[in-house]
Amino acid sequence: MELRLDDTTALVTGGSRGIGKAIATAFADAGARVMITSRKADACESAAAEIGHGCRWTAGHVGEPDDAARVVQETIDAFGSLDVLVNNAATNPYAGPMIDVDLPRWQKTLDVNLTAPLVWTQEAWRRSMKDGGGVVINISSVGGMSTNPILGVYDVTKAALIHATKQLAAEMGPGVRVNAICPGLIKTDFARALWDDGRGDEVAKAYPLGRLGEVEDIAGAALYLAAETGSWITGQTIVLDGGGLVGFR
Ligand SMILES: NC(=O)c1ccc[n+]([C@@H]2O[C@H](COP(=O)([O-])OP(=O)(O)OC[C@H]3O[C@@H](n4cnc5c(N)ncnc54)[C@H](OP(=O)(O)O)[C@@H]3O)[C@@H](O)[C@H]2O)c1
Repeated sequence: MELRLDDTTALVTGGSRGIGKAIATAFADAGARVMITSRKADACESAAAEIGHGCRWTAGHVGEPDDAARVVQETIDAFGSLDVLVNNAATNPYAGPMIDVDLPRWQKTLDVNLTAPLVWTQEAWRRSMKDGGGVVINISSVGGMSTNPILGVYDVTKAALIHATKQLAAEMGPGVRVNAICPGLIKTDFARALWDDGRGDEVAKAYPLGRLGEVEDIAGAALYLAAETGSWITGQTIVLDGGGLVGFR
């Protein structure tokens, strides 16, 4: 079985940097026609140029349903179909005990991290995958599998995304496979507060594999799921965390 994505169209949300850009790069290198999207047009444009292989971009906010419809349709218009959707973009506007969260930030986290993956998957399904088949990959987090003193709100959305992955896999088969990836700590802008100033070294000590993750670690798993290698995998959650969940505490 090959880790190739020839004759495959992929759309990656949050594809302008970090994990999303690494996934878009791995997909393009494997032969896919790739569309990336994020809020900032200039960031998308320069990322698409770096990714190469004819990578296209269009700016959009994952929390805006109109953007979901427009970006999915632009992808289909550009490439003829949408075969792989990666719901990668996420937000974390609140750090603190969940019991104290204000409703606007609770709602914002739900909108971007949970409702958006559903809405983008609905658009992909209705406009292409229902008839043409495909693959959906939801980027969740190991946070969705445990408790945390300050990331509880974010983690609730990621836990719900794991269950949404199972539910959608049951509903969208046999033509569409839906899986989730749960990264541990990866050195990106998003998680900077968790690894900057040497904090990452402390986290890495608790990981049996002794290091934090690289964006390419996650991209490799996404490629495995999207390609023929993943053809009998659906409704599953793959943890890539250097062993953090099983490490001694
Ligand atoms: N890094 C980690 O340690 C870690 C661990 C577990 C899970 N994750 C998950 O991995 C995914 C990617 O995170 P990352 O670390 O790669 O983050 P990142 O480096 O900060 O990149 C985030 C990407 O999402 C885009 N984005 C943010 N909000 C958006 C919105 N509302 N609409 C559209 N695009 C948006 C950003 O571009 P713009 O600013 O231009 O919109 C950027 O392209 C997220 O789902 C995150 O929860 C990360």
